[in-house]
Amino acid sequence: MMRIQVSPDRGRFALRRGVRQAAGTRPLPGCSALYGTPGGVMNLTFVNEAVAEREHEAADHGRERLLAVLRWLDAQGYRFVTATPGTHARVVKRADRQEARNVRDVMGWSLPFQPEVIPAELFELLRAADALEEQEDGRFKARYRVSSVHDTLFVHSAYPTLAEDSVFLGPDSYRFADLILAKMGDPKPGARILDYAAGAGVGGITASRAATRPYLTQADVNPKALRLAGVNAEFAGLDHQEVEANSPADVEGSFDLIVNHPPFMMDEAGRKYRDGGDLYGAKLSLDWTLEAVELLNPGGMFVMHTGVSIVDGRDVLLERLETDLDRGRFDWGYHELDPDIFSEDLDTAPYAEVERIAATGLWVTRRRT
Ligand SMILES: C[S@@+](CC[C@H](N)C(=O)[O-])C[C@H]1O[C@@H](n2cnc3c(N)ncnc32)[C@H](O)[C@@H]1O
Repeated sequence: MMRIQVSPDRGRFALRRGVRQAAGTRPLPGCSALYGTPGGVMNLTFVNEAVAEREHEAADHGRERLLAVLRWLDAQGYRFVTATPGTHARVVKRADRQEARNVRDVMGWSLPFQPEVIPAELFELLRAADALEEQEDGRFKARYRVSSVHDTLFVHSAYPTLAEDSVFLGPDSYRFADLILAKMGDPKPGARILDYAAGAGVGGITASRAATRPYLTQADVNPKALRLAGVNAEFAGLDHQEVEANSPADVEGSFDLIVNHPPFMMDEAGRKYRDGGDLYGAKLSLDWTLEAVELLNPGGMFVMHTGVSIVDGRDVLLERLETDLDRGRFDWGYHELDPDIFSEDLDTAPYAEVERIAATGLWVTRRRT
């Protein structure tokens, strides 16, 4: 396993094998395909070059094979809109939904299936991409779901997304994409776009598809998310790189557009894709906003979709933004996109004081002077 950690002044910054060169970086001495930030502290662990090279090639093959699945589905006109986990559970509980009958049931509803219900070509593509699990009863299940957002396909984790490192795409992602398109305006050609906490990449890919020759950076703490986000960006035909990061300050460079949909729930299971920390789940939303706006070029824009606990009629995130987000340096606006989401979570202990959870949008422009 080969991994480099580069620790520039601003904090930990990790690059994995297969990540493309970031602006302002140069090849590490003695390495033909790895890049680091000049001046950074680097801890390199090499098994040996040949082993690392084989790992790299295997990762490339895996990506190509998943891409082949997306291309096959797209050529067949496949479309699937991911619903909430609650809706998904209701639908797949139905007596006639205990086994897949077609490609959408397999790739969208994540139902177990007999190989003959899907075309043999797709079955072979899935097998080659290591995207099938064989169950004890001899039936198969796809490891991934494929969903359509604004007419392009995204591969993400299959239902149910119980694992800590599940790769998220849900109804929130659709609202996030719509918010970005409504607010992003017309970035200059060649704009540098960052999707922080990219998940499967819906936000950054949607923004990039609406821009002219953009360069997309997708950052996430979850390597599995970065892998799938990379496949999805490749499928969308974009110039892109993926960066493993723990907070926006870990990301090198400056950007013309930053999009962000952070985890915002108080998740009893503490899942990374869902748990937003203190401030009734809004702590990451606040912290990442304040860090991300410092990465904006003058005139650049930050767009965030998040969820906020409303306590005694107060929006706990907006209260903090009013005090912490400097209106002298940034123009910003904020509004509720949906007054009532995830109401089923209000029954859980952490939400005892919360009267509703609202989906909200924030857009911030860095003043030029
Ligand atoms: C709610 S999901 C949003 C995913 C995607 N942006 C979307 O809208 O579909 C939140 C994402 O934040 C990522 N995440 C959680 N903690 C993080 C951290 N400290 N740094 C970077 N990403 C993180 C998760 O891995 C997950 O992909």
